[in-house]
Amino acid sequence: MSRALQIAKVADREKTAGRLLKSSAEKFYDPDIDIDWEAPVVDGLHYHPEHRISLYGTEMWDRMTPEQRIELGKHEIVSIASTGIFFEVLLMQMLLKQVYRNDPTTNHVHYLLTEIADECRHSTMFGKACKRLDAPAYGPRVWVKQLAKILPAIGRGPSTYAAILVAEEVLDRMQREATADETMQPLIRMVNRIHVLEEARHVTFARAEVANGMAEAGWFAKKYHRLLTALVSYFVALSLVNPKVYKAVGLDPRAARKAARNNPHFQATMAYWGERIMGFLREADLVGGPGMVLWRHSMLLPR
Ligand SMILES: [Fe+2]
Ligand SMILES: [Fe+2]
Repeated sequence: MSRALQIAKVADREKTAGRLLKSSAEKFYDPDIDIDWEAPVVDGLHYHPEHRISLYGTEMWDRMTPEQRIELGKHEIVSIASTGIFFEVLLMQMLLKQVYRNDPTTNHVHYLLTEIADECRHSTMFGKACKRLDAPAYGPRVWVKQLAKILPAIGRGPSTYAAILVAEEVLDRMQREATADETMQPLIRMVNRIHVLEEARHVTFARAEVANGMAEAGWFAKKYHRLLTALVSYFVALSLVNPKVYKAVGLDPRAARKAARNNPHFQATMAYWGERIMGFLREADLVGGPGMVLWRHSMLLPR
C-alpha cells in the first residue's frame, strides 16, 4: 500500500471512531439504573418468541404443555444470554490486546475502550437477567470453553472481527424481533432494546475493520481468515442452545437435541438469524473453501 493511501486509511478510521465515540457519549444505558430488576415477571408471557424455540413444530413440541413450552423458552434464552457473555468476554480480551498495541491518543483506541466498557455493562446485564429468571447460566459446553481459550492468542485481523460479528449480528436479529413482540416479558424486551441500540455501533465498527482487513489481506491470509471465521461461527451457532435446557424442562436431552437439529422450523430460524451477517461475509469474501462444511453444520446458511 502506498504511503498516501495508508495516511488516508488511518484518517478514515479515525473519522469512523470519532463518529462512534460521539454516538456512544450521547446514548448509552446503565442496566443497574435503567432496568427495574425487582419488577415481577408476568404470568403467561414468553421469554423467547414461541416460533423461535428450538423444538417448535416438532412432535415433541405437540406433547408439551403450554407451561412447559414457556419454560423451555426461558431456559433457551438464558442459554443464549450466557453464551453471549462468553463471547463478549472473548471479544473484550481481543479488544484489550488492540489497545495494548496501538496509540492511546487516537480516536481508534478510545473507541476500543468504549466498546469494552459497553460489553462490560452488557455482560453484567445478561448475568443479572439469568439470575432474575432463576435458571442456570449454561454458557457453551465445557470443551468449547476450553478450546476457545486459544482464540485471543491466535485471533487477529479480519477474522477476529468477523467471528465476533457473527455472534453480534445473530443476537441482533433475534433481539430486534423479540423487542417488538408484545407477548414477551417486559424485562426481556428492555434487555433486548438496550443491547440492540448499543450493538449497532459495534457492528458498524467491526464491519469497517473486516472490510479494510480483507482488502489488505494476501491470498494465504484470506484463506486463513475464511477458515477461522467458519470455525468460530460454527461454535457460536452450536453453543446457542445448550442441551441441558431440555433436561431442565423434563425432556430427554439427547432426543430433544436431535429433534431440534432435524427440525425444519429451527433450521429456518437459524438461517433467519444468520441471513444478514452471511450476506455481509459473502460480500467481504469470507465464505468459501474448506470452511463450507462448518458453515453448513452451523445452520446459518439457508438449506
Ligand atoms: Fe454486547
Ligand atoms: Fe458488542
